[in-house]
Amino acid sequence: MMKSVKTAMLVAAMVGMGTAAQAAQTPSVELGKKLFNDPTLGGATGTKTCASCHPNGKGVENAWQNPKLVQQINTCIAGALRGKPLPLESVEMKSLILYHQSLNPSSSLGK
Ligand code: HEC
Repeated sequence: MMKSVKTAMLVAAMVGMGTAAQAAQTPSVELGKKLFNDPTLGGATGTKTCASCHPNGKGVENAWQNPKLVQQINTCIAGALRGKPLPLESVEMKSLILYHQSLNPSSSLGK
């Protein structure tokens, strides 16, 4: 319990520090799309990407309205890619969420 609290605080402190490289990385649809096609997402070492099973977002077009979107993304990262789940607050997760939201036909994101 204490350990996870400490880890969370450490991560928060590291995020707060914000190096120049981190500052340049703001969540975006473009980054989400890139990660969706990245076999190293979540530290995965295989050849699969999200797009292997969801080419161009096929099958996840309606996921933007899934209340468990974050969990589902992490389930696929851990299960399908054999990677590590991403923290909710990470630029990667935020970007993947933006990408999924951009698949909503009535969204103006990324258009
Ligand atoms: C090996 C194939 C495979 C890979 C690779 C894969 N998925 Fe999935 N994904 C599935 C399947 C199958 C489902 C449907 C699960 C269900 O609902 O029964 C699914 C469901 C989802 C959903 C929920 C869709 C909805 O309508 O709510 C999301 C979001 C999702 N995947 C995102 C991702 C992301 C992000 C990645 C990359 C990290 C990924 N998937 C990689 C097979 C895969």
